[in-house]
Amino acid sequence: MQLLVNVDHVATLRNARGEGYPDPVEAAEVCEQAGASGIVFHLRKDRRHIKTDDVHRLKKHVNGTLDFEMAATNEMIKISKAVAPDLITLVPESREELTTEGGLDMEVVYDDFKNRVFPAYIDTDIAISLFIDPNEEDIELAAELGSDAIELHTGTYANAETEEGKQKELDRLKAGAKQAHELGMKVNAGHGLNLDNLRPLVERVPHLHDISIGHALVSSALYHGLDETVQKFLHIMRTTKQTTT
Ligand code: PXP
Repeated sequence: MQLLVNVDHVATLRNARGEGYPDPVEAAEVCEQAGASGIVFHLRKDRRHIKTDDVHRLKKHVNGTLDFEMAATNEMIKISKAVAPDLITLVPESREELTTEGGLDMEVVYDDFKNRVFPAYIDTDIAISLFIDPNEEDIELAAELGSDAIELHTGTYANAETEEGKQKELDRLKAGAKQAHELGMKVNAGHGLNLDNLRPLVERVPHLHDISIGHALVSSALYHGLDETVQKFLHIMRTTKQTTT
């Protein structure tokens, strides 16, 4: 299991004043030095946080896994192929949303992904991950497409208001992880994870590979520093006994 830090909101803070700091690339370097296994960024159509230039600089400076989160537009396909990250994570994206609001509806995107998106990466070494909710049918369709990985959307779990709701979501995530693993895909997870809800996820959900964490980590870093915060998340991942079943 590895921690990938999403540096989008370092760029949000930078863009608030139009200055060159804080720099998401410098933050990425601090995260890697603190033990993170890689970096995630989401280049959105509207460039509200990460800019195209950041992407090229991240490619140059990140040593671990580089995960390029993106909508499957022709523009993003072109940029991602030029940048050649280790992994692209395809997400739904709408202009009005504050953040990614849910996983891909695989039934809706299936034909387009099969005919346009997946063939675009055939001649590359870039792995493809699909950001989806833990639904049986969506996971099935991801495997049919030949996806290398899925990223389980943990936002519903993170936002569940009752203990019962949280347990129900953990059960769904667990079933989704097992299904995806049995179908031969890597299992990543992310969205809304923080220092409180990470441990139960790691305890209950098997086969987790990349854990992608952004907003809560960057927020906590304002109080405790980026280095210390990354180490706190890593400590949880390393000291929690992960289920294998
Ligand atoms: N994974 C995906 C696919 C996302 O869209 C996001 C948000 O950009 C994250 C993980 C990270 O979520 P958060 O910022 O809530 O940790």
